[in-house]
This record gives sequence, structure tokens and C-alpha cells, in this order.
Amino acid sequence: MENYNLPEDIEKARERIDELRQSIRHHNYKYYVEDNPEITDYEYDKLFEELKALEEEFPELITENSPTQRIGSEKIEAFETVEHKAKMLSLDKSHSEQGLRDFDKRIRKRLHNSQIEYIIEPKIDGLGIALYYEDKTLLRGATRGNGAKGEDITANLKTIMTIPLKISTETSLTTFEVRGEIYMPVDAFQELNNSRIDKGMEPFANPRNAASGTVRHKDPKEVAERPLDIFIYALSYNEEQKFKTHLETLKELKKAGFKVNEYEKAEGISAVIHKINQWEHKKERLNYEIDGIVIKVNDLTSHDILGSTTHHPRWAIAYKYPPNRKTTRISDIEIMVGRTGKLTPVAILEPIHLAGTKVSRASLHNEDEIKKLDVRIGDEVLVEKAGKIIPQIIKVIKEKRQGDEKKFEMPHKCPVCGSAAKRFNGEVARKCINAQCPAQIKQRIQHWGERNAMNIDGLGPKLLEKLVDNNMVRHFADLYKLKTSDLQKIERMGEKSSENLLKEIEKSKQEGLARVLYGLGIPYVGEHIARILTENFHTIDKLMETSEIRLKQINEIGPEIAQSVVSFFKEEKNRELIEQLKKEGVKMESKEYQREQFLEGIYFVFTGALDKYTRNEASEEVRKFGGRVSSSVSKKTDIIVRGKNPGSKLEKAKEEGITILNEEQFIQLLEDKKMPSQV
Ligand code: IVH
Repeated sequence: MENYNLPEDIEKARERIDELRQSIRHHNYKYYVEDNPEITDYEYDKLFEELKALEEEFPELITENSPTQRIGSEKIEAFETVEHKAKMLSLDKSHSEQGLRDFDKRIRKRLHNSQIEYIIEPKIDGLGIALYYEDKTLLRGATRGNGAKGEDITANLKTIMTIPLKISTETSLTTFEVRGEIYMPVDAFQELNNSRIDKGMEPFANPRNAASGTVRHKDPKEVAERPLDIFIYALSYNEEQKFKTHLETLKELKKAGFKVNEYEKAEGISAVIHKINQWEHKKERLNYEIDGIVIKVNDLTSHDILGSTTHHPRWAIAYKYPPNRKTTRISDIEIMVGRTGKLTPVAILEPIHLAGTKVSRASLHNEDEIKKLDVRIGDEVLVEKAGKIIPQIIKVIKEKRQGDEKKFEMPHKCPVCGSAAKRFNGEVARKCINAQCPAQIKQRIQHWGERNAMNIDGLGPKLLEKLVDNNMVRHFADLYKLKTSDLQKIERMGEKSSENLLKEIEKSKQEGLARVLYGLGIPYVGEHIARILTENFHTIDKLMETSEIRLKQINEIGPEIAQSVVSFFKEEKNRELIEQLKKEGVKMESKEYQREQFLEGIYFVFTGALDKYTRNEASEEVRKFGGRVSSSVSKKTDIIVRGKNPGSKLEKAKEEGITILNEEQFIQLLEDKKMPSQV
């Protein structure tokens, strides 16, 4: 940590803390909300570290809403129920242009107005929440619940960087409640699901479910790991200034530091309909899902006149887009190879435009799914790209079959590297068993660096993409050969971030066998099995020598795992990889074993007779803990143990300045399992 010249006087500290918090808030807004940072990550980190250092020095100055306090360490027992400042209503909805025209007619009639000014906004397919601020400070965040009462999820919401913990001083807003929609960006959703599949967990059906599951997670640390975001679309309660229009409100919310989505003004319902049609195409390019457009009367006095039903306000309506389905033909079925070697059949489609994008591929998941759908090459199929983002084949139009459609067989060899692709008992997937299959490399290295594996912070997918594409890294072992100068050649990698990454890589060498085994990505070896294997074998060498029979004797290790482990270590390429990792200094023993091996690399020489041991017994003790024993003193000798009547070796040791232990000290050393400090 750097030396910041921390003030000693608490008043000066308070001033500096205020300054830092304001500056960090400003830069958070620039980075997370506007995606337009004014300073480098390094400069930002410096501000943040200085604030952390000051708060450590003056813990009495820590406030709940300091930027350092976003991630709570406490797990949540149960979410408390809280009452909303104003009831959270739903929206009326329409699926047709006529429905919108009827809505407009009702309003014009009630307001005696020939043309209404509307604001249209994307209807985010997420999770409605309310945020309550007092004195410009976030006090509470809650789910919609039954509309009147929701669950207090403040601790989780605070981890969302686009939610200001304190709002800008540039607005009159002080004590108020806002409404918004929490969502998970599409790319983050896909990434989350991939990692869940790798871990053998059930993937979320869509981003909405992922967001909803995340926001109700009991561990804020886990929530912080999953990138949620928010759009604020309404001010539901305000003690200060009243606004005249919805537009004015949105502008003020933006000024306060909230993330407000794009909106458009439309004069009259025909203009609204025109814009809705434009959005139907535009929506497909967004990194979040929308299921329609919300149309709101702009004038706020009109809201009061129109009022609400018990279900929805009369001044707004949601137009829902029709589901995106079309038929097309399957021209071929290709195989993709994933991280764990899983072969996924992908249908190559005659391109269609669906929901604004060209669709030319759709996953068929596995051979069972192919059987279930009875899908054949040449078939006409119904494809849907609805809430699921990813196009799905819904069904085969069997009436359209010509008779020349071809059945598809999953290959028994990996199409990328030619190794065997096996389907193990009970598994739906067929997997390539070659750990060095090029298609698997990128994803494997990423898995190696994962938090629960070797825990290499900063080894993200984008960086890895570049490392692998530039041939800087072909397998895990190459990570350990990287130099700062190599990394700095990569765009966006400065000196500091390169050094940090190298430190992380260096640190990972000590993670121990269990994490190494998990990181290797051996089929069927998840974190739990990796731990069991480690407890039973302690070193990778012993595990590599073992047999299926011996493995199957271990509780929880079934035939599939046993076979998978043995065939993994049989592969010559995998054995080479292990050798390389060892050479780079990656520890391949259990942590306990490492602790036991406290004499690793230490050379002993005995001279004279010991009381409690024979020479052989003493040597055996040294070897047991990883040390070496030689008969004569040399430059390599680290310790000489002197018994009774020592010989000339002792004199030589004294000349060389080698550490000399008597028998008592030697016994002490074995008991302490710690090298004496003078060595
Ligand atoms: S305004 C009183 N605006 O859609 C009106 N809602 O189906 C409050 N939603 O509960 C809603 N995007 O969770 C509004 N731009 C937007 C929205 C939006 C998504 C959600 C919201 C609401 C649900 C109704």
C-alpha cells in the first residue's frame, strides 16, 4: 500500500474523506452510468485506496453509505418486509395498435384534449424495485412484493454500482422514493449460465429469473459477483419540489446520478405507434431484454385527473411485442467443443430475420434433444427467439418432410483434435477426452484462473482472448512464463495492471493440490471430488500412479469418476502438462503435505553418535519431511547434526559457517516442524 501522508488530525481526515467520497461518487457515475470515465482505473484505485486507508485509521468516520461499504460481509438471515411509500402498481397492457388507439381515445375524452403528449420508454424485462432516500442518502431498497409491501433487499442493492448511495448535490431531490427495474445484462447472463453449467448447476431460464434469483440471494458477496444493473423510470414520492412533466422528472433523476434509460417524446398516438415500430428492430441490439414499450402521459397534472384503478394507473400502458417465431430449414448440423470437452450439436439454419437479427444457428443441446425433437438435416423447423434470447428450435414441421431428410449421428471422435469423444454412463453429453484440444484451451485457461480454482484475479475472458490469440499462452503452464513486458504489449494493459496480474499468477502457485485438480478441468472432477482425491492421495504423483480399482474403493468415487481420472492421466499430453506446471513451481501437493514437507530441499549431514536414534532412523526422519541426507559436508550442506564424538566433518562445517545442531535441537526441530530461524 502506498503512503498517502494520512492526516493525523480527525478534522483534516474528515475533510479529506468527504473530498474523496465525492470524487469517487463522481467517477463511479462517469464509469458505470455514462460509460465515459474521466480518469484511468489506476487513478481511481488510488483514490479508493486512500479512502480505505483513512477509514482504517479513523473507523469512527466510516458511514454505511461510503463507497467502501458497498459489499456487506454479513449473510442475510431473512429479508424483512417493508411498506412502500406509495403503492407499486402494475401496468395495463395491449398487444395491438388498436389497443393503443383505444387507450388514447379514453384519455383524450377524459382530458378534453385533441392531442396528448406522450413519453415512450423501453419496458425492461426485469424486476421492479423501490429505492427510498432520506437526506440524499440511500436508506432502503425493496422488491415490489404485493405492491403495498415488499422485501428489504438493501444490502444486495448496494452492490449495484449504478445505484447511488448518495445522490448528487446538484438537484433539489432530498427525501424521496424512486422506482426502477433491476436486470441482468444479456452477456453477463450468458456468462453466468455457462459457469453454472460447468459446475453442474441448473442454468437460469432467462435474464429475468437470473436477476430475480440474484437479488434475493442471502450472500451480498455472491450478489456483488453477478453483474446486475438498473434503470430508474419514476419518482414515486418526493417531499420537495413538484415537477410539471414526466420528462422533467426523468431529467432531474438523471441529474441526481440515477441511470435513466433512453426515452422519446411523441405528440399523439400515431407518433407513438411509429416509434414503437422503430423500437421493434432497435431492441434487438440492446444488451438487455425488453418485452415492450411503456407509453406514459407526459403532463403530471393529467396523472392526477386520470387516477388509477387498483391494478394500474390510467395514464400509462405497456405495448407488448409479439413473440418472435418463424420457420426455416436446417441445412446442416455442426459440432461445437466446449471447455469440459462437451460436444454440442448446433443446427445450421437457412438464415432468417428474427427479432431484428439474422439467425443462422440454433443449439440442439445434445443427442437426446435431437431424438426428442426427431430433428433431421433438411427438416423445416419452427424457431423462436423470445425471452430466451438464444434462438430455440421449438418443433419440426413433419408435414413438410420430403423423404430425403438425413438422420444425424453424434461423432465418436472430437471434430477438432480427433481424440475419442465418449459418453459416460448416465450423461447426456458426449465429451472429447483430450485436455489439450485447441478448442478447449481458452475456456480451460479461464477456468484454471477461476476464483474457486487457482484464483487468479484479473485473468478475464477479454484478456485471455488476446493472450491466446497472440500465441502468448497455449496452456496453463505458459501463464507462469509471462513477463511484464509481454503483458504491456496488450492493449489496455498498463505497467501496474501487468504487475498485479503477474503477482496473482505467482501467488496461484501455492494454492495446493485440491485447487489444481479442480482447475485442470478433469471431467467429473468438481471442487468436492478434487478435495476427496487430495485427502486420499496428497500428491499428484501418487494420484497419477493410481488405478481405477483403487479409486473406486474411495467413498463417493464412482466408476465414471475413476475412469475419467485414470484416462486423463494416461494421456501423454496431460502428463507433460503436469510436468511443465511442476517445473514452473506450481505446488502439486495438498496444503497439509506441503506443511509436512518443511525440510524440502534442505541438506543434512550427521556426525558422531546420537542417543535417541540410530543414524538410519535419524536419516529416515529427515527424508520423511522432504529433507536430504549426505555423508560428507559440501557447499550444499545446510545443517550438520552433531552427536557424541563428532569427527572431522564438524570442523569442516564450522569453517564453512554451516548451522550446527545438537541432538536436542534436532529433536526440537522435528517436533516444531519449523526450520530454526538462523538457517
Ligand atoms: S412504469 C405506475 N416504466 O413493468 C407505473 N414500468 O408490467 C409503474 N417496467 O411493475 C411502472 N420498465 O416493474 C414503468 N419504463 C418502465 C418500465 C416498467 C419495466 C416494469 C415495472 C412494472 C411492470 C409492469
